[in-house]
Amino acid sequence: MPRIVDTIRGRRSVRTFEDQPLAPEDRAYVERVIQSIETPFGTPVEFRLLDAAEHGLKSPVVVGAHDYVAAKVKRVQGAELSLGFAFETFCLRAAERGLGTVMLAASLSRKSFEKAMEVGAGEVMPVASPVGYPAAKLSLRESMMRKAIKSAERLPFSQIFFNRSFGTHLSPAEAGHFEEPLQMLRLAPSATNKQPWRAVVGDGVVHFYEEHSLKESALGDIQKVDMGIALSHFWLTAQEQGLEGRFVTLDPAIAVPQNTEYITSFEAAR
Ligand SMILES: Cc1cc2nc3c(=O)[nH]c(=O)nc-3n(C[C@H](O)[C@H](O)[C@H](O)COP(=O)(O)O)c2cc1C
Repeated sequence: MPRIVDTIRGRRSVRTFEDQPLAPEDRAYVERVIQSIETPFGTPVEFRLLDAAEHGLKSPVVVGAHDYVAAKVKRVQGAELSLGFAFETFCLRAAERGLGTVMLAASLSRKSFEKAMEVGAGEVMPVASPVGYPAAKLSLRESMMRKAIKSAERLPFSQIFFNRSFGTHLSPAEAGHFEEPLQMLRLAPSATNKQPWRAVVGDGVVHFYEEHSLKESALGDIQKVDMGIALSHFWLTAQEQGLEGRFVTLDPAIAVPQNTEYITSFEAAR
């Protein structure tokens, strides 16, 4: 299996696909992956692999896809975090097999997806993704989109990670054994590439925060899905590096900037 850090470094969103359905062995792989994903946050996430033609699934930004994966959760506290974590784990496992994905919150025929997912009154389906074989060349629309939202760029490490308080920037060297998990978190995908994640590092602990920069919709806070995605990068990298620990809710007693919300903390095992 490839190293998770290499998969994360090599990943990008894919919107332009070879015009062919998944081969039976890849379909079976996707089914296996989506049935076995676990998250450290507890809320169960239900995935389905869907045939685009059968369910009338469409996206104005996707070309060539025959198959989609969608996921839904109960509308409970922490649901978006679990969903983001689980969905990104699926996207990374797909990338390990050479399959392309892109999470779509806005650019999809939402009604047909929700029907195919049988989304009930107390449930939400924040995102879905095509899954297939990446085409060699990006569509013109995809190239233009990537440029417009600067998809290949990320905020600098020291601008989003802090040392003990939001007043002191953290250098990669100061992050110690948290450096690699934080470097991989930094590369996470997010809605319109807003990168809402912030983190404050203390002794053996990292506190994670969300900087709100998009309005909430009826679907909830999409940036909480981003936070779940980011935490999956952190967690999968920590696991690969043998950095044991767990996510816990603490009261860090750290003064937070405006529009910034505490999410969770990672406590390293002693
Ligand atoms: C929660 C979420 C929602 C997204 N929604 C859309 C969408 O509706 N349409 C779209 O074209 N891309 C969407 N994206 C893809 C982002 O634009 C993309 O991840 C970001 O620009 C970074 O590019 P990269 O994934 O290639 O690194 C979404 C990504 C996330 C994480």
